[in-house]
Amino acid sequence: MPVITNIEDLRKIYERRTPRMFYDYAESGSWTEQTFRENTSDFAQIRLKQRVAVDMSGRTTKSQMIGQDVAMPVALAPVGLTGMQSADGEIKAARAAEKFGVPYTLSTMSICSIEDVAAHTKTPFWFQVYTLKDDDFMRRLFERAHEAKCSAIVITVDLQVLGQRHKDLKNGLSAPPKLTAKSIANMMTKIPWGLEMLGTKRRFFGNIVGHAKGVSDPSSLSTWTAEAFDPALNWDRIAQFKEWWGGKVIVKGIMEPEDARRAADVGADAIVVSNHGGRQLDGAVSSIRMLPSIVEAVGKDVEIHLDSGIRSGQDVLKALALGAKATYIGRAYTYGLGAMGEAGVTKALEVIHKELDVTMALCGETDVKNLGAQNLYVPQGFGDPSVPL
Ligand code: GLV
Repeated sequence: MPVITNIEDLRKIYERRTPRMFYDYAESGSWTEQTFRENTSDFAQIRLKQRVAVDMSGRTTKSQMIGQDVAMPVALAPVGLTGMQSADGEIKAARAAEKFGVPYTLSTMSICSIEDVAAHTKTPFWFQVYTLKDDDFMRRLFERAHEAKCSAIVITVDLQVLGQRHKDLKNGLSAPPKLTAKSIANMMTKIPWGLEMLGTKRRFFGNIVGHAKGVSDPSSLSTWTAEAFDPALNWDRIAQFKEWWGGKVIVKGIMEPEDARRAADVGADAIVVSNHGGRQLDGAVSSIRMLPSIVEAVGKDVEIHLDSGIRSGQDVLKALALGAKATYIGRAYTYGLGAMGEAGVTKALEVIHKELDVTMALCGETDVKNLGAQNLYVPQGFGDPSVPL
């Protein structure tokens, strides 16, 4: 294995090994990609307070998410088409998360099905739900998640329509990839990826194909979302899903205090401050910049998580110190998966854990649960996006 010291090392290997169509799918934001870029650049605006001559022994990154013990407060986010980044990718990622002791969230738009992932893991995982119009399909999806012993659902509320990512349209993104002169020429340069992919049967949207009706091109994410997703989703429907599911519910995609309040009022166990990694509303504020106002509005009433832009353990520390109880990584582990399969996901988790632990030490903290305002210098404009940074 090459010497991997940070997440960017994994991204570079991933870019070399994976067909362009799937690399571009992960490494894009919508339209101008402003929000995608600012999700990461805004983290860099926050500075850390160095403390010295503090006893740094006996540090711990252990915490809890929705009452579940976690080795560090970093879950694997739901990522569509993970099984196209590496054959059986969802199973590999779920196994890496299980061994590391962090939650894995399976996307509705996964390649491996709920049943597949359950058959290859022992620890209950979380299931991310997209809200489709078809009630029978939705009820059956909840039953399937129950049968697979999923311990929470994550309802994504920011994708009633799909944000446009230019590269996906130009590449003709689909799962499995359609064989065109361009895609074949590119895949010919990704032989190990192709051989592994030929060795698995899991090349279709496993939760959908054979389960949902009335979609004209079952291989296309944009066709699925345009034809099957429910543009009428509202808070009553979210409350209905909570009742149908009957277990823990995380509401993902909250960017405004009013929406955070609505999510708390429908009884969410946690919310995820998220702009979908900059893949939905381009021009939205970065999620780290919105975090303080959401913590102020609902921090006492609901557990707050954050995703979008986390590429290091330092980013995790900043989000926790600004009041999030926990975080998610999506791209950071996808890079690892595409670079070197399950071992690469483990590597991404190890890199982030080490960065979090060492940064805690140098900030004079020994327990991840005690991070707070005392650890940061935060520019004006965090929590109030009308003030320029
Ligand atoms: C799906 O969740 C996507 O962002 O592509």
